Amino acid sequence: MPKIRFLPADIEVDVPEGITILDAALDNNIQIDHNCGGNCACSTCHVIIEEGFETLNKVTEDERDMLDEADGLAKTSRLACQCKVTANLVVRIPKKEPLWDGEDIF
Ligand code: FES
Repeated sequence: MPKIRFLPADIEVDVPEGITILDAALDNNIQIDHNCGGNCACSTCHVIIEEGFETLNKVTEDERDMLDEADGLAKTSRLACQCKVTANLVVRIPKKEPLWDGEDIF
């Protein structure tokens, strides 16, 4: 049974082989945004694979197109809903840019 370590929370979970990274996270109460419901139609489930990238299924053209929209793209960026887990992974969930910068406007 593969293990995924999710960063930055540093939570390691055992997951069934063949599950997507997104489902593995959600099944373990780890929040990854997934605005399109896992249909490769957004980039909110963007994650960076820190270990095990080469064990994942290949990036499709559709995934590549969506990834281009993601903030903070890295060489090992993937969409969590499109990656099937077959081996141990270390997955970083990138910080999202805040919608508001925290400055008091009043
Ligand atoms: S949840 Fe929208 S692309 Fe993964």
